[in-house]
Amino acid sequence: MKQSIEQLLIAHGKEILLSPGMQLEKQFIQHGSISCFEHSIAVAYISLWLVHCLRLTVDLRSLVRGALLHDYFLYDWHEKDSSHRWHGFHHAKRAAKNAKRDFSINPIEEDIIQKHMFPLNLALPRYKESIIVTCADKFCALCEVFSFLVYRFNEQHLLGGFALPQHV
Ligand SMILES: [Fe+2]
Ligand SMILES: [Fe+2]
Repeated sequence: MKQSIEQLLIAHGKEILLSPGMQLEKQFIQHGSISCFEHSIAVAYISLWLVHCLRLTVDLRSLVRGALLHDYFLYDWHEKDSSHRWHGFHHAKRAAKNAKRDFSINPIEEDIIQKHMFPLNLALPRYKESIIVTCADKFCALCEVFSFLVYRFNEQHLLGGFALPQHV
């Protein structure tokens, strides 16, 4: 990998990371004390790390964008609300619907989002990018639930010279 994982994350994920919808994810807790925003970055990061370690050839842009949007359901699933019932089974579909509304996503990105809950959702991932994100998501979720890893991303560092929405 010629570029570092951070550089790839920014090169391919900048538009999504800076979007109002993605910024909204900071308000929603995913597991433990980790926000949905942090979880999504971690999944994208681990996905890129797996590609690097396993020397895989993949569509890096789709991998990063799909990973960042895989949990783009945009609500706090801990809150009791009838629309959040069976979150584990339904949120991938909701995330894909929101992603299609807010971004122009390609078939690989859509498959990553739709299938990331395999095998809980029985539909088989169609692309290797989807399989990678599914594995990275499970690894990150386990780390978060059992507090094996606590990651905090320094947004200013990660996004470097890019203006954040509130400053635009
Ligand atoms: Fe998910
Ligand atoms: Fe996830």
